Amino acid sequence: MSTTTRLTLRRPDDWHLHLRDDEMLKGILPSTSENFGRAIIMPNLVPPVVSAKDAKAYRERIMAALPEGHDFTPLMTLYLTETTDPQDVAEAAKSGLISAVKLYPAGATTNSQSGVRDFENVSNVLEKMAEIGLPLCVHGEVTDADVDIFDREAVFIDRILDPMRKRFPQLKVVMEHITTKDGVDYAKSGGDNLAATITTHHLIINRNDILVGGIKPHFYCLPVAKREEHRLALVAAATSGSPRFFLGTDSAPHRDERKVCGCGCAGIFTAINTMSCLAHVFENEGALDQLEAFTSLNGPAFYGMAANERTIELVKCDAPVEFPSHIHTGDGSVTVFDPGFPLHWKAINNPS
Ligand code: DOR
Ligand code: ZN
Repeated sequence: MSTTTRLTLRRPDDWHLHLRDDEMLKGILPSTSENFGRAIIMPNLVPPVVSAKDAKAYRERIMAALPEGHDFTPLMTLYLTETTDPQDVAEAAKSGLISAVKLYPAGATTNSQSGVRDFENVSNVLEKMAEIGLPLCVHGEVTDADVDIFDREAVFIDRILDPMRKRFPQLKVVMEHITTKDGVDYAKSGGDNLAATITTHHLIINRNDILVGGIKPHFYCLPVAKREEHRLALVAAATSGSPRFFLGTDSAPHRDERKVCGCGCAGIFTAINTMSCLAHVFENEGALDQLEAFTSLNGPAFYGMAANERTIELVKCDAPVEFPSHIHTGDGSVTVFDPGFPLHWKAINNPS
């Protein structure tokens, strides 16, 4: 049994986050900016963030929505399309405006219609990214109708990712939100230019949690949670301390009417209670000493950035820590992820 009741960590970063726009952005940004120093911001807006000009304007909207006194840096990304201009990408990277490019196979998830259909058509961009060392964040699922949704990640690794990495061996790749043992094994098999993010919710739920005893729309996300053996592989990877694995919450708010309906959207909102959930998971594994590597050290090291100077405190409380069940935004109510167990770890921001 762990007897640790207080931990100091470098301020965490979130290497995969959906902040949306307008009223939703205003409503949910404080849940991240309160405790996180930086986040890689997903570009799947409608319309998507495809050019340096779009990324600059989006970054300004995020900064305008940031609460007074919050110390947070959005790390912008561009949405890769078959018409992305390699020069625009290179200039945006050089100026520090963007930190990565995001690859969505067309049709794989929310707002991915403008994504890639024929990978040959983006080879010029990938070549340029490999040359300048700009990471590619990959949504790793095939979309072929004949591939079962639970197999889409493993098939993507074989059919798309592995050939792509062989063709561009210098390309830095982040396998986003891995959900399978296959993903863990592949990430481990690569060199220093391969890493994987793991979400909070995929460390906690498996596919039974979504489907047994009634369908749980607030546990539906993409890639969909898999069998328990896969969840266990993710927990082992996250708590191992291996520099290949780091936190990307994929916190993805949708207003409740879009989740609870005949054709519900994929996405789970975990930004507000992620650190409490993770401390619980790591403590159960006897791995609290690896939490800082996962949330605060491995990500910046991969992206070639320094860890945050400031720290946060995690304190274990006797009484469960209360989180709101919903965030009420100007764009509607968003349900907060319920891990299914009481949370006793509280994150406290240390003043700078
Ligand atoms: O569950 C998800 N939600 N997965 C994604 O890949 C996209 C995200 C969203 O934007 O809602
Ligand atoms: Zn995402």
